[in-house]
Amino acid sequence: MSRSAHPAGPRHADVLPEGHYAAPPVDLNALDPKVWAQTVTRDEDGVVTVGGVDVKTLAEEVGTPAYVLDEEDFRARARAWRTAFGHDADVFYAGKAFLSRAVVRWLDEEGLNLDVCSGGELATALSAGLAPDRIAFHGNNKTPAEIRRAVEAGVGRIVLDSFQEIVRVAHLARELGKRQRVQIRVTVGVEAHTHEFIATAHEDQKFGIPLAGGQAAEAVRRALQLDSLDVIGIHSHIGSQIFDMSGFEVAAHRVVGLLKDIRDEHGVELPEIDLGGGLGIAYTSEDDPREPHEIAKALTEIVTRECEAARLRTPRISVEPGRAIAGPTAFTLYEVGTVKSLEGLRTYVSVDGGMSDNIRTALYDAEYSVALVSRTSDAEPMLVRVVGKHCESGDIVVKDAFLPADLAPGDLIAVPATGAYCRSMASNYNHALRPPVVAVREGEARVIVRRETEEDLLRLDVG
Ligand code: LLP
Repeated sequence: MSRSAHPAGPRHADVLPEGHYAAPPVDLNALDPKVWAQTVTRDEDGVVTVGGVDVKTLAEEVGTPAYVLDEEDFRARARAWRTAFGHDADVFYAGKAFLSRAVVRWLDEEGLNLDVCSGGELATALSAGLAPDRIAFHGNNKTPAEIRRAVEAGVGRIVLDSFQEIVRVAHLARELGKRQRVQIRVTVGVEAHTHEFIATAHEDQKFGIPLAGGQAAEAVRRALQLDSLDVIGIHSHIGSQIFDMSGFEVAAHRVVGLLKDIRDEHGVELPEIDLGGGLGIAYTSEDDPREPHEIAKALTEIVTRECEAARLRTPRISVEPGRAIAGPTAFTLYEVGTVKSLEGLRTYVSVDGGMSDNIRTALYDAEYSVALVSRTSDAEPMLVRVVGKHCESGDIVVKDAFLPADLAPGDLIAVPATGAYCRSMASNYNHALRPPVVAVREGEARVIVRRETEEDLLRLDVG
């Protein structure tokens, strides 16, 4: 799903299987800063360190598999988004990428707001002490109980996703004697260039209310009539892992078009627009993501230009990056269990995790890179498939990658750019125990989400 091109490179084995593979990197020991967290480097013994802690020590202390998160990098990325958008805009980190109480506190300290999309995420944010008015609540089918909790807590905005929800939120807010700030999520009819499962602005899908046919305008009309709703703006999220800014441009153009229609019909200028998240990151060296300041500049310019043309006051912009903040900040540390060479076919490297800690390869055909991290090696590159320990052949972590030919059981390997949508989409398939998340910073490692235990599993089994 990364947009990496994969020309067939020089071949390093007699027979190579059909498939996508790039040329082997010139230096297998090198760690491309594009895909590795900022503080990742090798120490004088060739062992990879992050935040000043080496991976061998981490493996001893917390075991493998483990998600290892560079706290300094996470904070720096959050800060870069905040700074890029300045004081006239708001940055809501999308908690679905990865959320824990520590993350909420980091975001709070770095001045970001939070987008939650379930009661569980809301509970996490509130329990970490985030001010409720800095929370946006999303989802295409929020339950009445979730809505009640959000309104009671006083969340800063609820993003309304259907006609039924407009009435539902209005009703619950009235019952609670509150006036709830809301945005209305629209689908602008853009085909984002990304995997079909994570594109969200074309009309035929479950999110949002289509601009087409006047449905979004009708939703605004109805919401404006309800006293218990304070309609503060329009929301659009076009998809995820996007590199091309043109989709955002079209979205901004159409959202501003709706603001203009609303002004013309109701005499009201809605004060905010949210352009969602979706900015892509580098999973392999071939991906070239945009920097937050470029994105901020592009989005601000588009909205300002469109508003000037429509003679509207420029609304306050908000954005919701998830992957672009969390994704590059973590890698998954695995121990190699077996190396199986199938004559003339392929070499399989089995690790002690798999699709239960990273479903993205199986689900979206996502591409990842991998490196030997417990030592360096001068051995020849060997084309491998990194697979997990689950009971199915689709349990692939990295489809095609080069590792040194002397790779052996007990070696530690790591898959970078797993900070987003890996722990948050992890499962207990085959009763796997979900790995911990270890935050490292200034020579210290701190478990922020602990490893599951068999007791955790059995506690739920009450039959
Ligand atoms: N805002 C809304 C309303 C969203 O639905 C999402 C993601 C975001 C913001 C954050 O998007 P980001 O900046 O992280 O791309 N599981 C998939 C990604 C699903 C994204 C869902 N919504 C994956 O692993 O690629």
